[in-house]
Amino acid sequence: MMAEIKDRYGRTFRTLRVSLLQHCNLGCVYCVAGDEEVKQANATHPSLPVDELLAIICRLRDQLPLDTVRLTGGEPLLYPGLASLIRGIRAAGIPAVRLTTNGFLLERLAGSLKDAGLEAINVSLDAVDEDVFFRMSRRHSVTRIIKGIDSAIAAGLKVKINTVVMKGMNDSQLLPLLDFAFSRGLTIRFLEVMAMGHLHDQADRYLVTQEEILQTIGSRYTLTPQARAASATARYWTTEDGHRFGVIANESEPFCRDCDRLRLDSSGHIYGCLSSNQPIELNMGEKEGEWDEKLRQALAQKQELRFVGSDLSMLRIGG
Ligand code: GTP
Ligand code: 5AD
Repeated sequence: MMAEIKDRYGRTFRTLRVSLLQHCNLGCVYCVAGDEEVKQANATHPSLPVDELLAIICRLRDQLPLDTVRLTGGEPLLYPGLASLIRGIRAAGIPAVRLTTNGFLLERLAGSLKDAGLEAINVSLDAVDEDVFFRMSRRHSVTRIIKGIDSAIAAGLKVKINTVVMKGMNDSQLLPLLDFAFSRGLTIRFLEVMAMGHLHDQADRYLVTQEEILQTIGSRYTLTPQARAASATARYWTTEDGHRFGVIANESEPFCRDCDRLRLDSSGHIYGCLSSNQPIELNMGEKEGEWDEKLRQALAQKQELRFVGSDLSMLRIGG
């Protein structure tokens, strides 16, 4: 029997975000301080194998009204056994399996992931200009990522683009990225930079607000806002020629009040909030009542109104 796990705002967990591993093949400036942090993440943290992850996910499915699993990381395309994990999650009766990736390995993998039952992917792309991309990610890989995006579209995956906008870094790329997305009929979302990990105390320096983003796009298009869907991270606008883009405004317009996300990291800890740096360890040997209690603890980690961030790296907790 499923116990009801709900807080006083009516929030429960319906979306599970699983960080599959802590390492990444890019070194994005909003995520890591430098290559040293990437190296440390790569060296010190083995991730759970497919069967152990599936066992945890199935048990969470039995205790929660889960309808979506989103796979993240680190970079989830580096996880061995990704296709079989996706197959297993679908076979466990979870209808939507989605993934957030930097797209570096996507060209090779898009078809097999779609065949395994993946529905949709969000690809991070912070510039179309190779030099600006390098400044953001410490790698030269725009061409390769665009090939990955095109393969994903060809494979029949639903694709959206995520762009973290940073003042003085890639804010020149808003309109070029919009052109890129619109030319392929894709939705792009611009993200206000979040106070996570090494940026915990200095994200303000780089913040480009939702209002500033809308001003830039509004200089080119007439914008019509759409209502934010329940539990969604993004709010969307349409342009007069029928294109759609979104803004994920952690700072300007926090979306905590109806958050339905539970996070599982690559060593089996849960978190009820992206801002929590208090991992809660799950143990398969524990009884259902003990897991319910831990899920309630995780739910109590949710913020009421405002995203506060934490010093925990996005590599660990998943984006
Ligand atoms: P869709 O279902 O396609 O809308 O995806 P999503 O926006 O839920 O997931 P995605 O992985 O693309 O995340 C986009 C941005 O939203 C990332 O920067 C995430 O860190 C951020 N995000 C996801 N969940 C939360 C959350 O619970 N709180 C906050 N503040 N940000 C979140
Ligand atoms: N601020 C905003 N977005 C971030 N992401 C990672 N770190 C940050 C940050 N500090 C984004 C990635 C990816 C998503 C999972 O989170 O670009 O699109």
